[in-house]
Amino acid sequence: MSSQPAIFRIAAACDHAGIDLQKHLIGWLRARGHQVEDLGTHDHASCHYPDYAAAVAGAVAAGSADLGLLVCGTGQGMAMAANRLPSVRAGVVSDTFSAAAIREHNDARVICLGQRVIGSGLAEACLEAFLTARFQGGRHAQRVGMFSEVQNG
Ligand code: RB5
Repeated sequence: MSSQPAIFRIAAACDHAGIDLQKHLIGWLRARGHQVEDLGTHDHASCHYPDYAAAVAGAVAAGSADLGLLVCGTGQGMAMAANRLPSVRAGVVSDTFSAAAIREHNDARVICLGQRVIGSGLAEACLEAFLTARFQGGRHAQRVGMFSEVQNG
């Protein structure tokens, strides 16, 4: 078994309220060898976070990215929008326990962070926890499979 850390293709996007943290995290990810597709926004002009959530969720759903990173003011709006694509499973986190748990238990494929909520050091730690955790399957796979029953009523 290899002790090398896994390298992921990561689709990343943010809105104007997340751009400073997002720039920092993209550099952090690339320095660790991950392939990051930067889907914007690229300046501080006010923009609409659902456009960027849709871009990342679409890339993950289509398989052009393994995982996604979304940053806005709180992470919340990004997650709400990204979760409109059922195969994506996006979670907002502001602690490392939850960052690992959304992979291990929920098979989340997109992590959402809030620039107005956490600093860059904690954001790095959350990303690290998310990227090194693995879905545990078993009863968790059964429960994730039940999401479609919620959608279908
Ligand atoms: C933008 O002001 C803010 O609403 C957005 O970044 C995000 O926090 C929404 O969930």
